[in-house]
Amino acid sequence: MFSTGTKQHLYVNQPELIKELKQHKSLDLGKPSYLSKARRPILGNGVIKANGHHWALQKKLIAPHFFPLQVKGMVGLMEECTTTMIRTWEQRLAEESQGGVAEFMVDQDLKDLSIDIISRVFFGSSYYLGKTICKKLRAMEETLAKPSLLFGLPYLGFLPTQGRRKTWRLEKEVEALILNVVKGRQEDAGKYSKDLLQMILERASTDIELQQDKHKMERFMVDTCTNIHFAGYETIVSSASWTLMLLALHPEWQQRVRSEIIETCGDHIPSMSLDWDKLSQFKNLGNAILESLRLYAPSAVIAREAFADIKLDGGDSNGNNFVVPKGVHIWSFVPLLHRDPENWGPDANEFNPERFRGGISEACKHPQAYIPFGYGTRLCLGQSFAMLQLKLVLCLLLSRFSFSVSPNYRHSPVYKMLLMPQHGMRLLVEKV
Ligand code: HEM
Repeated sequence: MFSTGTKQHLYVNQPELIKELKQHKSLDLGKPSYLSKARRPILGNGVIKANGHHWALQKKLIAPHFFPLQVKGMVGLMEECTTTMIRTWEQRLAEESQGGVAEFMVDQDLKDLSIDIISRVFFGSSYYLGKTICKKLRAMEETLAKPSLLFGLPYLGFLPTQGRRKTWRLEKEVEALILNVVKGRQEDAGKYSKDLLQMILERASTDIELQQDKHKMERFMVDTCTNIHFAGYETIVSSASWTLMLLALHPEWQQRVRSEIIETCGDHIPSMSLDWDKLSQFKNLGNAILESLRLYAPSAVIAREAFADIKLDGGDSNGNNFVVPKGVHIWSFVPLLHRDPENWGPDANEFNPERFRGGISEACKHPQAYIPFGYGTRLCLGQSFAMLQLKLVLCLLLSRFSFSVSPNYRHSPVYKMLLMPQHGMRLLVEKV
């Protein structure tokens, strides 16, 4: 335990306690409210940061659209976007490569691809709006990231500094853009195809609480749109880039993953031939993604706040219960849990997808401590969507290109041990 000013914090890294937290279902355990305040311009009171009844309502309206059955239907659209990126890579290789090899900033291209996919899934034919929104959210994030958000050091958000004024302006612009589309949809619903926005809007329109309060309904739509866009691209870009980087560093694994894909699909994957079931057959690819999420989980910290005294079983070695008092903030640091040699064995810091051969339950002693998508009631809503997109994009890229680390790739001096890139993920790309 430690304290920062008036706030008390509990750091949890015992797998047994993580398991208890995972099983705790009440609304008394939620997201720390002071962190939510700091990010309010970007996330509003949307599903990522909300608590209590308001969170439960939003989850009820959004979660069903991300169930595997729904996500399965998005493969075609994801494939279309990825194929467009592949064509530009092939063109670049033909035009400017020496000996068929060229250096790519893969994270940059994967970011554009992810934004393209989430925008098309969410907005359908108005996808360009999603791209504009992502750009504005990023600009807001850069402005907000300057002061320390982690420990809630005094954040003078009420002062009209230049940064604050920029954030307020962007916030208003994003809100106006979204409300404009929503209004158009409400006036002429039949004109639009069933994209995510339309489906969420239709579900929300049947909710009595939102029906009765126009302002609440508008807030819900704005927050849902920003939250899904915010959650839906940075995380995937990070996981896809790290998986490619790790496979570039381990050519034997890269070849293993590629051979499995080619054995099943042949040298050229016919257009629109991939589906959920086929992608599930690529075990080596799936294990490489799980291993990359273990070593480089996009969310380094999982945080909770106790809104009432929380009783957890098995608090100490004598089996006594453990009470987290109301107001305490609970933190788990994912990289330490995911790299603990006690749990994962002496090769915990190594890239070894083979450890997932028997599934997560056999990869380590305490599977509950593998939490790239968080835990409990606040588990990532987009998990199936993310895994599908990662598998599809990586399958298409690895079947056509081989990757190696560029000599221009530089680690950040601060994070050298973790191989953090200083100026982007520079990989050499070559056609296979
Ligand atoms: C590899 C990709 C992804 C990773 C690693 C990831 C990870 C996470 C994590 C760690 C959380 C917080 C969980 C907690 O506090 O316990 C979260 C929440 C969330 N994620 Fe993801 N995420 C990914 C992709 C996505 C995508 C693609 C979407 C949507 C399109 C999405 C939507 C959400 C939402 C809505 C929440 C809030 C859930 C809630 O609080 O009820 N995520 N994600």
